[in-house]
Amino acid sequence: MTTYPDTGVLSAPAAGTLLITNVRPYGEGEPTSLLIKDGVIEAISAAADAGGVTPAVEADRTIDGGGNVLLPGLVDMHVHLREPGREDTETIETGSRAAAKGGFTAVFTMANTSPVTDQPIIAESVWAKGQARGLCDVHPVGSITKGLEGKTLTEFGMMARSDAKVRMFSDDGKCVQDPQLMRRALEYAKGLDVLLAQHAEDHRMTEGASAHEGEVAARLGLRGWPRVAEESIVARDALLARDYGNRMHICHASTKGTVELLKWAKEQDIPLTAEVTPHHLLLTDDKLVTYDGVFRVNPPLREESDTLALRQALLDGLIDVVATDHAPHGSEDKCVEFEHAKPGMLGLESSLAVIAKLFVATGLADWRFVARVMSERPAEITRLPGHGRPIAVGEPANLTIVDPEHEWVSDSTRLASKSENNPYEGEEFGARVAYTILRGAVTYDLAAESASEAAE
Ligand code: DOR
Ligand code: ZN
Repeated sequence: MTTYPDTGVLSAPAAGTLLITNVRPYGEGEPTSLLIKDGVIEAISAAADAGGVTPAVEADRTIDGGGNVLLPGLVDMHVHLREPGREDTETIETGSRAAAKGGFTAVFTMANTSPVTDQPIIAESVWAKGQARGLCDVHPVGSITKGLEGKTLTEFGMMARSDAKVRMFSDDGKCVQDPQLMRRALEYAKGLDVLLAQHAEDHRMTEGASAHEGEVAARLGLRGWPRVAEESIVARDALLARDYGNRMHICHASTKGTVELLKWAKEQDIPLTAEVTPHHLLLTDDKLVTYDGVFRVNPPLREESDTLALRQALLDGLIDVVATDHAPHGSEDKCVEFEHAKPGMLGLESSLAVIAKLFVATGLADWRFVARVMSERPAEITRLPGHGRPIAVGEPANLTIVDPEHEWVSDSTRLASKSENNPYEGEEFGARVAYTILRGAVTYDLAAESASEAAE
């Protein structure tokens, strides 16, 4: 069994050998073959001399990569798998399947479960269930405050030292409002070298709000969620991170002003990182005109000037990573009046396609960029061993194969997720995950799935 420092016991790597032929690492150069043995990349060779690998090896399984793009397995710093508490909307099992289908080999699932993940025993149960299923490494995020109540800090140390090895803490879904408590959390986190992730929202400014404060909300008669509600907390936390010296992460950045604050913070060498969701990069509040609750999300979809600034910030590295904020909800919470719909949308199964559409198909960036923002940086920020690693001999075989020319239409009835609150219904995409591989085990196979769907 492979173990990595600080990761705890992992599900066993696939025993035996897997040969992957005809793939282009990072979408570059000539096709290559990889031999994986007991979950580790054992050999890589150019296709031209693949004879050096192929005939010599009787692999237990061979995958023809079809000339497709090979990336390090994707890492999502921000999902909600709803277990424990709302297993009717998602479980660690269905969420893991959605993750594998989306190309992910590791995800971090937020603490706003029921009960809240504020104790080692809950974190350990989430971690153990993910490992037992073995489709994706599911890392529990611990809450910063007990019960997400914003009053008392949780025992970061006990969760960090538990079998779940919790490495990130967040009250996501809620903001830690109290600045003194946030200061103490930073000091505590610093001693343990764990990451704090803030859901930046001044709740006094967003009471009753369900949409971005702007022209669309005014026209539709929806109470507005102003940009300053996010930006004021980002500014405050940047200053706290500066003065109390710990690294700190901003969840789901959604405004142009947040980008300006991140630029300022990075110029001062403040250890502040940030993520952006695919939906805040692609969608705007124009989607709200149908009053369809699927488009209610927190922070809300904003304006085009924001999406453009967020895209540029990701290209420039001011925003470090893409994280989905995959937030499953049942129809009883979504097919209701807009103001009563629960905020959140699905993301795991579409994020790679959204990023490819926005950045690769447009020529703004290449697959190296996708590897950086969806795998390498998230693993670096969370200090996650074994993921987001170079595609090289001796590295764990956590890999994603992407067909960069696969046209498909998003269909909410064909999701691995248990919920259907998919904001991309009917949207056309041009890239798709073909295979996902976790420690040498194939956790997703598009061709096999298509064949079984055709047989239905
Ligand atoms: O839209 C959201 N949904 N934003 C959050 O911060 C929480 C999440 C959820 O848990 O549904
Ligand atoms: Zn979230």
